Amino acid sequence: MTLRLFDETPAPYVAPEVIAPGAMLLRGFALGVDEALLQAVEGVVAAAPLRHLVTPGGYTMSVAMTNCGALGWVSDRSGYRYDAKDPLSGQAWPSMPACFAELALRAAAEAGFDNFRPDACLINRYEPGARLSLHQDKDEGSMDAPIVSVSLGLPAVFLFGGLRRSDCTARYRLQHGDVAVWGGPSRLAYHGVAPLAKGEHARLGAQRINLTFRCAR
Ligand code: SIN
Ligand code: FE2
Repeated sequence: MTLRLFDETPAPYVAPEVIAPGAMLLRGFALGVDEALLQAVEGVVAAAPLRHLVTPGGYTMSVAMTNCGALGWVSDRSGYRYDAKDPLSGQAWPSMPACFAELALRAAAEAGFDNFRPDACLINRYEPGARLSLHQDKDEGSMDAPIVSVSLGLPAVFLFGGLRRSDCTARYRLQHGDVAVWGGPSRLAYHGVAPLAKGEHARLGAQRINLTFRCAR
């Protein structure tokens, strides 16, 4: 048996880890396709650059974001919404790369949600110190489909709570290649990401990339 106590090397996928009803971590699920995903991220970012959005309250988000797919999640002084066009360019968002759609479909099925066909993928880039405060994903047109979230690069602490903001949150360390899926009774669970710790990832350097797949329509 290999002792993994202090070993940060991601281990290959074994089985879902249930964290709440309808919510699962698929540790290492994206490891075989990580390089394809990252090359596809580079293509999306070349066409629709990462940018720091402003919240309706006037704060600039520490996480930089862009999107691909038919719809993209955006925020500005007027609110949060999905938009078919990138407000920076006025053009449609880059189309969803096939490797994104395939991984999201497989991960959702593995978590018990069949036929997941997301029309939106939010790409989040965290640099050390960046965080995402506790929120619900509730701008989507339907709550029937789950959220599929893929972690790449530096590890992060994912906070996962209940249906009320005041519910206590559990902390999960998400590493490169891990996938989180939440739907059904957990679809509106509050979640967030603690400030990213400093570090160097072999492929991505001092950053974490997260892909969040949604059915926004
Ligand atoms: C999100 O809630 O949109 C992102 C979660 C993450 O970065 O893991
Ligand atoms: Fe979210």
